[in-house]
Amino acid sequence: MAAPDIAAPAVAPPNIAAPDVAFRPPTARKTSETPQPYSRMVTESDTEGQNSRLVVSGASKSYGRPGARREALANVDFTMDRGQFVSIIGPSGCGKSTLLRLMAGLEHPDTGSVSIFGTPPAEASAVKMIGFMPQVPALLPWLTVIDNVKIPSKVNRRADARRRLQPGHLHPGEGDPVALLTELGLGDSLRALPHELSGGMQQRVAIARAFATQADVLLMDEPFSALDEFTREATQDQLLKLWEKFVTTVVFVTHSVSEAVVLSDAVVVMSPRPGHIAAVVPIDVPRPRRNGLVEAKVLHDYEDLIRSKLQLAGVNPR
Ligand SMILES: Nc1ncnc2c1ncn2[C@@H]1O[C@H](COP(=O)(O)OP(=O)(O)OP(=O)(O)O)[C@@H](O)[C@H]1O
Ligand SMILES: [Mg+2]
Repeated sequence: MAAPDIAAPAVAPPNIAAPDVAFRPPTARKTSETPQPYSRMVTESDTEGQNSRLVVSGASKSYGRPGARREALANVDFTMDRGQFVSIIGPSGCGKSTLLRLMAGLEHPDTGSVSIFGTPPAEASAVKMIGFMPQVPALLPWLTVIDNVKIPSKVNRRADARRRLQPGHLHPGEGDPVALLTELGLGDSLRALPHELSGGMQQRVAIARAFATQADVLLMDEPFSALDEFTREATQDQLLKLWEKFVTTVVFVTHSVSEAVVLSDAVVVMSPRPGHIAAVVPIDVPRPRRNGLVEAKVLHDYEDLIRSKLQLAGVNPR
């Protein structure tokens, strides 16, 4: 897909790379003056590279009956390195959830391909390399907090054995559910049932469950959208702490520009009709970023930059 003609914003923080349709690892960005699509960057012999990258290549997806098809995604190219945190932002209906479902192996692209560290998504999902976290926590109401966190590790033990054999799998074992829940401030609620918890607490249980399986990649679809702002910021901090500790790869869908900036190594801006990647903005801000450790102006400059990209893509951002 040709890069859209996106002009430089009036206010741009220093050292922000030009817009780019495919997000590539920092090393590739530094060494290549004219970045190439992933398919041209990686040769067949570069299996080690494939095993350390999540790649969406030329993916398109349509829905509906023949003759009344609606193109949800058109020719999406997207590459990220293992261990990175990338957010996807864009207006309602631009295909964010569709893209996440393609990455999760829940749906197949009509054209193009997806590779999760060298493994097709459906297979990666079957061997628990992928953790999917939807907008609502989806806890089992009859199980206690601790049992909700333990359940993915208890079911389908054969998948765990197969996962250990996958070349693209890296994590050595499971996270300790009690330690995770304690770290997330839920040490006193291990035996509580989900309905006894607040929305923010339920979402933290879901985060603990996602990290307990130590999936190679966590796909998170607007997981904090139902939380109030204070709870949301606290939960973002806790997510970042775990991400830093476990070096998990995260793809995070959000409608919040500020959330995308504070969390991410790069923000993918999507545009609708049909859904495509309009720009990728690397967030070159040191970590950790939580608890006001980063100068607010730097983050605000990035937020302005992303809002300008969204406006150029025909979106009125929040
Ligand atoms: N199963 C489906 N059947 C038919 N159309 C679908 C299906 N899933 C998605 N679509 C269409 O594909 C487009 C993209 O939908 P998608 O849910 O990916 O958008 P989104 O960016 O996640 O939106 P939101 O921000 O509202 O969650 C929309 O036009 C939607 O109507
Ligand atoms: Mg969605």
